[in-house]
Amino acid sequence: MSQVLVVTSGKGGVGKTTSTAAIGAALAMNGSRVAVVDFDVGLRNLDLVMGAERRVVYDLINVVQGEAKLQQALIRDKRLETLYLLPASQTRDKDALTSEGVARVMDDLRESFDWIVCDSPAGIERGALLAMRHADVAVVVTNPEVSSVRDSDRIIGMLDAKTAKAERGEYMEKHLLLTRYDAARAERGQMLKVEDVLEILSIPLLGIIPESEAVLNASNVGCPVTLTAADSAPARAYIDAARRLEGDVIPMMIPADKRVGFMGKLFGRRAA
Ligand SMILES: Nc1ncnc2c1ncn2[C@@H]1O[C@H](COP(=O)(O)OP(=O)(O)O)[C@@H](O)[C@H]1O
Ligand SMILES: [Mg+2]
Repeated sequence: MSQVLVVTSGKGGVGKTTSTAAIGAALAMNGSRVAVVDFDVGLRNLDLVMGAERRVVYDLINVVQGEAKLQQALIRDKRLETLYLLPASQTRDKDALTSEGVARVMDDLRESFDWIVCDSPAGIERGALLAMRHADVAVVVTNPEVSSVRDSDRIIGMLDAKTAKAERGEYMEKHLLLTRYDAARAERGQMLKVEDVLEILSIPLLGIIPESEAVLNASNVGCPVTLTAADSAPARAYIDAARRLEGDVIPMMIPADKRVGFMGKLFGRRAA
């Protein structure tokens, strides 16, 4: 059965696009057929992070508007046979994404893919609502800082109220992905503690992704970090997160300060 997953946050710059690419690739590495879909009309970032920007001919809006077939717009990944990208338009108006059109594209994608991973734009307006609309499961990307946690809390409210699943009276499955986690700053008390974020948002933890140069390098070479640096700490955390989405139970690790040199295990919390 296919699953539509939305990667959302409210706030911009927290790591949604990075996480969409990394989790999408990790799910495809496990053999699933995966489509990553860029809903961030106007910014068009996901194609860059996937290294597919020169191959974009048609995009999500063309398919929504009936100007291109889904198969014409999907771009197969150069590295993984089961990974595809449906890019966003850089030039078209956001309003060209009609809600009926998006519903039809999501239905079509469900026919061919195991996972459809939707990269949401920032904010809590129309674009973000369209991205979450057809989701079966949500990954709420949050940085350990007050403004990000506050925006995530608002997004959780939207997920429970404004999605098709919520309107059918069904429970919306939500997972917290804590990203850009800086162990040294956490230890100095300059960031919110993992426990505090969990307490405020009260949704299960899917993973903690450390702040890492490996993510920036991956972005620069146009390859998801889970493919280009699979042994790096952020990639391993993303790979574990993808396995948890597939139902595996894996111990949760809190990245520790490198100078201390060990990985702390998070006891007393059940993994998502
Ligand atoms: N774990 C990380 N370590 C270091 N930089 C990161 C990490 N996650 C994201 N970034 C960087 O933060 C910036 C914003 O990330 P992005 O995924 O585009 O966020 P969003 O899609 O939420 O706006 C990018 O420059 C990205 O490379
Ligand atoms: Mg983005």
